[in-house]
Amino acid sequence: MDKKDWKSNAKRPELDGNLQYHIRCRPGDVADIVLLPGDPERVPKISSMWDSYEEKGRNREHVTHTGVYKGVPLSACSTGAGGGSTASAMEGLATIGAKTFIRVGTTSGIQEHIRPGDLIISSGAVRYDGTSENYVSLNYPAVADYEVNLALIEACERLGYTYHIGITATTASFFCGQNRDGFGGYRQSWFQDRYEDLRAANVVNYEMEAATVLTLSSLFRIRAGAIFTVIGNRVTDEFSYEGVEKSIEAASLAATILHEWDQKKKEKNKRYYFPSIDR
Ligand code: URA
Repeated sequence: MDKKDWKSNAKRPELDGNLQYHIRCRPGDVADIVLLPGDPERVPKISSMWDSYEEKGRNREHVTHTGVYKGVPLSACSTGAGGGSTASAMEGLATIGAKTFIRVGTTSGIQEHIRPGDLIISSGAVRYDGTSENYVSLNYPAVADYEVNLALIEACERLGYTYHIGITATTASFFCGQNRDGFGGYRQSWFQDRYEDLRAANVVNYEMEAATVLTLSSLFRIRAGAIFTVIGNRVTDEFSYEGVEKSIEAASLAATILHEWDQKKKEKNKRYYFPSIDR
């Protein structure tokens, strides 16, 4: 795509047919429910578990696949690492019709009982992401949608996976933001204090996108949640890249559960899902 083809409107660059600047997808390219991994290579790992899929966009860190899983239309779009590119992807996806986001990724636990290979479902996120404050005051909360979280819990129970529910700390940096030394042993005194304060406040894990996803989703009136495979524990200093597929499986299954609940809500003329809706 030649850059000169982009419309001259710098406020919101789009191509004819509403092709979105960052994700290079247009209306009709994505399903209502979109999984948001950070890593572009995780998109084919997700979609290869589905019954069928097609690639709809590929640009920079954003790869988008749309397909069908257990009869439910689904998309996955990679956000890249960190809030900035995550916000750009979400802007494009919301513009072309996404209604629900499920962030799926990897994380390190900062409480001892969070074991590598476990899953974490975020109830909310501490907003050290650096991007969501470009949208709204830091006093505004980053909270997960209760329906998305209930569907994630239901999916983990059906799959028999060990999971924890808790508050996530989203940081703009994998290294210094997560109390790791920067290059050459670079440190600031507050790195350790912030880590200890998060632990004392019962925050369970570090990652880099959830606060952006949850905050912007509330602003956009979109449902969102986040689920992670634990690959590290900062208290015990363990790191193991096993079980990454568990969060992918749980997120895809949760999407089908949400779809079923949405149908029930429609049938019963209810705005919100509740456990006894079938009775
Ligand atoms: N993702 C992060 O942001 N930090 C970790 O330690 C692991 C995954």
